[in-house]
Amino acid sequence: MFKDSCDSDSLTAGILSQDAVASLLSGSRQGNLYYYDSVDSTNNILKDLASKGSPSGTAVIADHQTNGRGRRGRSFVSPSGAGIYLSYLFKPQNGFDRISDITALTAVAVADSIKKAYGLDTQIKWVNDILMNRKKVCGILVEAFSDGTGKPVDSCIIGIGINVNDAAFPSELSEIASSISKENDGKCFDRALLAAELISSLDALGNGTSEDNYYLERFRELCITTGSRITAFPQMTEQGQGRNGTALSVNDDFSLRVRFDDGTEEDLRSGEVSVRGLYGYT
Ligand code: BTN
Repeated sequence: MFKDSCDSDSLTAGILSQDAVASLLSGSRQGNLYYYDSVDSTNNILKDLASKGSPSGTAVIADHQTNGRGRRGRSFVSPSGAGIYLSYLFKPQNGFDRISDITALTAVAVADSIKKAYGLDTQIKWVNDILMNRKKVCGILVEAFSDGTGKPVDSCIIGIGINVNDAAFPSELSEIASSISKENDGKCFDRALLAAELISSLDALGNGTSEDNYYLERFRELCITTGSRITAFPQMTEQGQGRNGTALSVNDDFSLRVRFDDGTEEDLRSGEVSVRGLYGYT
């Protein structure tokens, strides 16, 4: 499952390649899988493929991104040889109401993939971060995709960035971000194995192969935001005055029930929530 170090001459465990990922998938699943050594953003490459008619389930994986995008207009640091940068085209059979629903389902799919590939537990910070030991090891960015014909939007690009093995992060991120390796004594993990598990878990979302309530129950089980003191920012930015409160629960539609300090209660469906005790927020 892992080698002791990514620095030794047995780097096999750390290598991510089309062949390595495809060999772990069934023959019929090996199509519509695109691998690149370096791209600006896998979400951009996949948008281009989607606009040319690629089917649901098409996936783009890269070893390195020069312009990885995060939420709130942030960049997502994507060094080579360390992470998995994956975008997946998702066209649910019955469409979708909210991007945040897809984000929540994806968070569960990522957590389950890490568990299956490496046997490791993670937590979810509502609604799109995957944590290990309360540090971020994965971010999710889901973008609606429109083919430009004016038809209702029925597709989205699920972008997942996972810090798997060790890489140097900018010092300002060291309080927030970590890698699976760093949180596990510097061990080197097999990226292809996790990439293949991710694709299988995302395929399961589309096939509806899990019980209806599975994702909601699992999200609630893993979500560490519930019960925490939070600051909510209504826009997708942390600028401006946030509102302090306590996160009470995750509703059936994955929105977050919050009791604010002025006594009012609201269900948050979008925006940003900082959790006290996480990411250097005291
Ligand atoms: C976040 O934490 O704000 C979301 C980060 C999402 C990063 C992934 S990496 C693969 C895909 N391509 C991108 O440019 N972004 C997403």
